[in-house]
Amino acid sequence: MRLRTKFNLVLLTACVIGLGAASFLTYRAAQKNALEEIENEIALIRTNALAVRHYTATGITPLLANDTDVLFLPQSVPSFSAQTVFATFKETFPEYSYKEAALNPTNPDDLANDWEAEMINTLRANPELERVTTIRNTENGRVYNVAFPFKITSEGCLRCHSDPSLAPAAMLDIYSDQNGFGWQMGETIGAQIVSAPMALADKRALDLIVVIMLSIIAAFTVVIVLVNLMLSRIVLKPVSVMSEISEQVSMGDFSADEYVKKGNDEISSLSESFNRMRRSLDSAMKLLDE
Ligand code: HEC
Repeated sequence: MRLRTKFNLVLLTACVIGLGAASFLTYRAAQKNALEEIENEIALIRTNALAVRHYTATGITPLLANDTDVLFLPQSVPSFSAQTVFATFKETFPEYSYKEAALNPTNPDDLANDWEAEMINTLRANPELERVTTIRNTENGRVYNVAFPFKITSEGCLRCHSDPSLAPAAMLDIYSDQNGFGWQMGETIGAQIVSAPMALADKRALDLIVVIMLSIIAAFTVVIVLVNLMLSRIVLKPVSVMSEISEQVSMGDFSADEYVKKGNDEISSLSESFNRMRRSLDSAMKLLDE
């Protein structure tokens, strides 16, 4: 195998190993970054929903507290305002969703679907869990969902959610007395489920991998071209000239000019010793001839 081929083979192997290792590490790092970014988005959406709930519970509900038997305004219910505000948010960011899902909800729109019920049941079975996470494949790509338990921790909730006879009459006029009742103190009745798309993060991770791959390929191309140029100039060319001259000398033809490679590297000193050897051989041959 030629020297150049050997060098190039070693460099190409290093390039392939480098690409493999870099793609693996980049993929892992990109996945981690993407997940952190999505977790951050989920936290923002949830915190915003909790803020709307808090505002409604402390700023709006008390204003109407005395009138609930004659007039019941869903707008004064934290769950209603949080989800209504989110609906406006969703007009701009349709890939995100926020739902206050329950197994036995007051508003049928809040009824948990299959996968939501599964998350709620996991939270019900494991009351110590602060959240559960799932990744679902949808027609719009992968979606990351986090469910935070809704636990009944205040007696005040039971007024509207335990026995219909305790609930404001005006509320029963709007919602039925068939659902959203029978909730128990300490029970996990549902979950705040926040969903964020993974498609954008997946695409960013892929873009990053492509950029890093291209950079590595570009760097290796430069290295391979430089190594080949240096190999030609410093080693291959002088060695092939010397090999041609030694071929002639070995046939007894001393007519070729002496070749001296400038510089003080190993090939230069080889060319000098080669010339000395050639001169010695020349004198020895002349002596023999005499
Ligand atoms: C004055 C009555 C009232 C009180 C008190 C009340 N809720 Fe509700 N709750 C409602 C109504 C009405 C709805 C349905 C709102 C809608 O249309 O989205 C609701 C909806 C919910 C939902 C969404 C699921 C569903 O049933 O539709 C959750 C979760 C919830 N409430 C939890 C609580 C918690 C926790 C408390 C106590 C901190 C509480 N509620 C106190 C009336 C009440």
